[in-house]
Amino acid sequence: MMMKKLILALAIALPAAVLFAADNGAVMRDREANFKNLKKQMDIIKSAVQDAGKKQQLADAGSQIIKSAKAIPGFFPAGTKDEMDTEAKPNIWANFADFEKKAATLAMSAEEFVNAVNAGDMQKVASGFQTMGGDCKSCHKEYRERYLLPAGMRGREKYIPAERKVIYYRSFFTEFVRNRRQIGSLVPSSRFLAKKMCTGIDFHTARGIIELGPGTGVMTRELLRRMHSDCRLILIELNPVFCQLLKNEIRDSRVSIVNMPAQTIGDVCAHYGITGRVDAVVSSLPLAVIPEAEADDIFAAVQNALSSGGKYIQYQYSLKSKAGIRRFFSELRIKFCAANIPPAFIYVASNNKSV
Ligand code: HEC
Repeated sequence: MMMKKLILALAIALPAAVLFAADNGAVMRDREANFKNLKKQMDIIKSAVQDAGKKQQLADAGSQIIKSAKAIPGFFPAGTKDEMDTEAKPNIWANFADFEKKAATLAMSAEEFVNAVNAGDMQKVASGFQTMGGDCKSCHKEYRERYLLPAGMRGREKYIPAERKVIYYRSFFTEFVRNRRQIGSLVPSSRFLAKKMCTGIDFHTARGIIELGPGTGVMTRELLRRMHSDCRLILIELNPVFCQLLKNEIRDSRVSIVNMPAQTIGDVCAHYGITGRVDAVVSSLPLAVIPEAEADDIFAAVQNALSSGGKYIQYQYSLKSKAGIRRFFSELRIKFCAANIPPAFIYVASNNKSV
């Protein structure tokens, strides 16, 4: 409690410039759009590569790849090195010349591809497509980080001793400053809130629970205290620093930690073979700062992951997402937790698939 007050005081004292510094949002979005375009053009080529009648389509896609490939280095200004919500590895900036070379190699392969299309040499078109795919891979291998960490953890339950808590608050605060949009709230959610969120779950019967955005693990610890010994808990956390913290501190064989965005919950469930069999999804995601379309993707994926009668439990500081959640779930109850700072609403949505 003391610590929370201290952090709040600190935050108020900090000039806004510190909290809102280094907004690389625009360049990060353009970077993502550029890579998505590369993927889209590759998909177009993949579906048309054996079809000599689709020459124009193949040539257009190839030209787009040339352009997008040449643009890649420009989307990696040095100021984006410390962005957290990214798969870009820091070694990009240590070896920037090599990174540029890899982008140029792809652009060259795409030029050869277009030449082959124009010459009508379908064999060369096919091999050119393979070469471009290899160029994507060789850059990703060196410079893109992709995690799916089903950390097969063993050992006894271990909760944080009180004296370690300060480290969590400190890392939470640092992470908040570095990555304000991703984290959404200045204060990690309280145990009051965690307890109240847990009341919606039938722990006698639940055998599969997913937590979205566990952060420093306040909710996680509450769940573990109550969960059946055969129940499995999968944590989906986007921030790699929190993942590492959770991995170090939560040593419980029932837990798996996945360093992925919440939107991939469908893939994660498929990976673990639990699609449609999850008893509860508990979420601390800052819905208020997540764009509506993304939130809808998350709601749809949660709905799909849950068993019939499974519960989606989410807290929020406003009633903003009520309509959004209603669209995906047949039942929605809202509770209020005044003991949290700030006071929070708890949404409990049921997934009644037959309705
Ligand atoms: C010069 C290096 C390089 C090349 C070449 C490259 N990529 Fe990437 N790609 C990256 C990096 C680095 C990231 C991670 C960016 C981030 O998360 O900020 C990435 C991310 C992506 C993403 C994820 C985008 C998102 O955020 O949703 C896709 C999709 C992608 N690349 C597809 C491709 C395809 C397809 C090709 C080949 C046609 C390709 N890339 C070639 C370096 C490269």
